[in-house]
Amino acid sequence: MKFFGALLLSTLAVAALGQGDLPGPEFSARDLQRIASLSPLGPVPGDETNRFALDPRAALLGQRLFFEPGLSANGKTACATCHDPEQSFGDGLPRAVALAEGPRRTPSLWNLAYARWYFYDGRADSLWAQALQPMENEIEMGSDRLAILRAVQSRPLLRSEFEALRGALPELSDSERFPEHARPRPDAPGSAEAVAWLAMAPEDREAVNRAFADLGKMLAAYERLLVSRDSAFDRFAEGLREDDAEKKAALSVDAQRGLKLFLGKGRCRLCHNGPNFSDGEFHGLGLAPPGGGMPTDAGRYNGLPALLADPFNARGAYSDAPAGVRARILKGLRRSTSNWGEFKTPSLREVSRRGPFMHAGQFATLEVVLEFYSTLEGAAALHQHQEQILAPRNFSAGERADLLAFLESLEGAPLPATLLKAP
Ligand code: HEC
Ligand code: HEC
Repeated sequence: MKFFGALLLSTLAVAALGQGDLPGPEFSARDLQRIASLSPLGPVPGDETNRFALDPRAALLGQRLFFEPGLSANGKTACATCHDPEQSFGDGLPRAVALAEGPRRTPSLWNLAYARWYFYDGRADSLWAQALQPMENEIEMGSDRLAILRAVQSRPLLRSEFEALRGALPELSDSERFPEHARPRPDAPGSAEAVAWLAMAPEDREAVNRAFADLGKMLAAYERLLVSRDSAFDRFAEGLREDDAEKKAALSVDAQRGLKLFLGKGRCRLCHNGPNFSDGEFHGLGLAPPGGGMPTDAGRYNGLPALLADPFNARGAYSDAPAGVRARILKGLRRSTSNWGEFKTPSLREVSRRGPFMHAGQFATLEVVLEFYSTLEGAAALHQHQEQILAPRNFSAGERADLLAFLESLEGAPLPATLLKAP
């Protein structure tokens, strides 16, 4: 209202300026502190569980592997098929499709080196452990670790780079010891692959697992380079710090009002916080599944036991720091009923370049996401401890437009073109 009064009093000035040129909102000392907590994005943290994390040769090989369809069962699907660099490392679909349609959307891969958990349900605790799962997932790449290592072995460039980094592959040519196809399958212990896996000598299984883990570590070394920073918002935050008017002008007045809403009335920063706009944890928004009705995806509730049982987790035999910080975090983890229907808070950097949104692509556009936060329409109360911080925000159409302008300001500087295709 106050704002409106000021507007009426200065109609002449406003007419001269035009709508977009209205003075930006006032930021309180507390706002400024919160803005400083969102920018800049610091240097990429290391990963003690991956001895190849910082090795540029590993990243180059990881990049080759990322674009290599030969690692899949049908020879047609690479990581990049779904995580397409041209589409912000997503596929633009509500739910991923390769060998069949999956239950969840393909997330984009920005700034994952800053994340603590991977997958929407957090069933992996490192980028390298994550990378192993799609290769063997029936509806993604559908292969098995023996076939995957053979695919590497039969490609001279992949083989020489891989062996130069980690030492020789197991003696896969010995078909007595190493079957064509084998992998552990707790879900289907009677399957041919599972039986073949159990028939292998324990030390051979161990050697295969070690090489398979190393492949994941190379892929992770590449994925760690997919960093989005230096957005219009970051320039604005820098401008505030340095009191530099030119830098402050990087953020439109609409986006500045959106930022103010993001920090205040919208309470978005309660979950989307820190320079990566994610608390790295899991929350239940109670989203209906794509066809409507009650939520059916248990999310973190099933992700947690899967993570703790994963032989490739941070405290497992294939981790390079099985007693390190990440491993210790696992020790204290217990699932509770409140984890049912919780999903990982995504980073909002680059958010306007991807979509549809949410874990099952429920919302086609950011406008619809903002309508959801405005009304919480269709959201189910998951349990007694339903997120208390989530309540309808009743944004006006103007406020939603401002928030949208702010989200669009989180598009970062482009990555070097050499990272966006097979090397
Ligand atoms: C068929 C499409 C498809 C292929 C192929 C695929 N992915 Fe994914 N990816 C997905 C989907 C869907 C999810 C989300 C699944 C979930 O959370 O349960 C995902 C999740 C991820 C995540 C977790 C992101 C996050 O925010 O936690 C990473 C990292 C990732 N994939 C990397 C890879 C790599 C590396 C490969 C190749 C080895 C690969 N993906 C192959 C569809 C695919
Ligand atoms: C209670 C924690 C919480 C609050 C508060 C919150 N979010 Fe989210 N947000 C999440 C979680 C969790 C997801 C992922 C949900 C899923 O995939 O099912 C998400 C997803 C999103 C997405 C979709 C991103 C994508 O790639 O799919 C956008 C955009 C978003 N939030 C913006 C906002 C804005 C704007 C606000 C404030 C109006 C806000 N969020 C408030 C936790 C929160």
